[in-house]
Amino acid sequence: LTRQYVKADVDGQIGRIRLNRPERYNALNRTMIREIVKVMEQFDQDETVAVIVLSGEGKSFSAGADIDEMVDATPISMELLDPFADWDRISRLHKPLIAAVHGFVLGGGFELALACDLIYATPETQFGFPEVGLGVMPGAGGTQRLTRRIGRTRALEWLWTGERMLAPEAERLGIINRVFASEQFEQDVMTRAHQIAAQPPISVRLIKDAVDKAGDLSLQDGMDHERRNFYLLFGTADQTEGMQAFLEKRQPTFKGN
Ligand code: HXC
Repeated sequence: LTRQYVKADVDGQIGRIRLNRPERYNALNRTMIREIVKVMEQFDQDETVAVIVLSGEGKSFSAGADIDEMVDATPISMELLDPFADWDRISRLHKPLIAAVHGFVLGGGFELALACDLIYATPETQFGFPEVGLGVMPGAGGTQRLTRRIGRTRALEWLWTGERMLAPEAERLGIINRVFASEQFEQDVMTRAHQIAAQPPISVRLIKDAVDKAGDLSLQDGMDHERRNFYLLFGTADQTEGMQAFLEKRQPTFKGN
């Protein structure tokens, strides 16, 4: 895979993806989205990778979808192109996906962060959905994912005004997980990523699978699903090791099976 707009590498068990179109504030064109999703899928299948971290090169995470590319679109051209099919693949990934964002996180850039499992940001990060000012609206899950996080009233005001919000406020509202100081942002994010990577991976995977169901299923159906995953974990060596280590008062050594 030749990658024009993303950089990717592996650090320990962390697969890192960096949006790399800094001269355009990492505006997301279709090739770029396809590259991001392809690398994500590669890491998801790679046994040496436990956690995926997505960040942006340059001054910002991303200023949104590439407006140059959208300006001449028609309903039919978009129906035929189906640009969101690539985005949909993100929610089918199994491994923890962390968005580590800074600078502007706007429009499609914000939607990309919201499609990840966890969001960490520097204090100066600005989040917003400016689409309304372009005569459109979010199209990659923004209205749905934002509303699920902060409720209808707050989501509407924000989407209608197109205003930007700073990271501490986004943290207070539960849109993002945590704010880390800019000076040591990368280290703090990696510490967190390594912490999750050290957990038994099948537990991590089935927890994500069960939590995802909480948004879609009734409480009882969700609990039934949770129970199946719980039972499944008793088929892993890591369950035996985790519980045995507790009883023997020692640290567990997880093998990932
Ligand atoms: C294309 C973009 C861009 C974008 C910035 N650029 N954002 N190009 N699409 N989304 C380009 C600028 O045109 C400019 O190119 C260069 O990047 C630097 O940007 P400036 O505007 O000169 O910088 P600055 O004054 O610092 O302002 C930064 C900014 C502003 C606040 C981020 O660029 C901005 O408002 N951008 C658009 C944000 C936006 O509306 N996003 C939503 C897009 S719609 P040149 O060639 O002049 O140097 C969307 C829909 C999602 O995301 C639907 C699902 C995918």
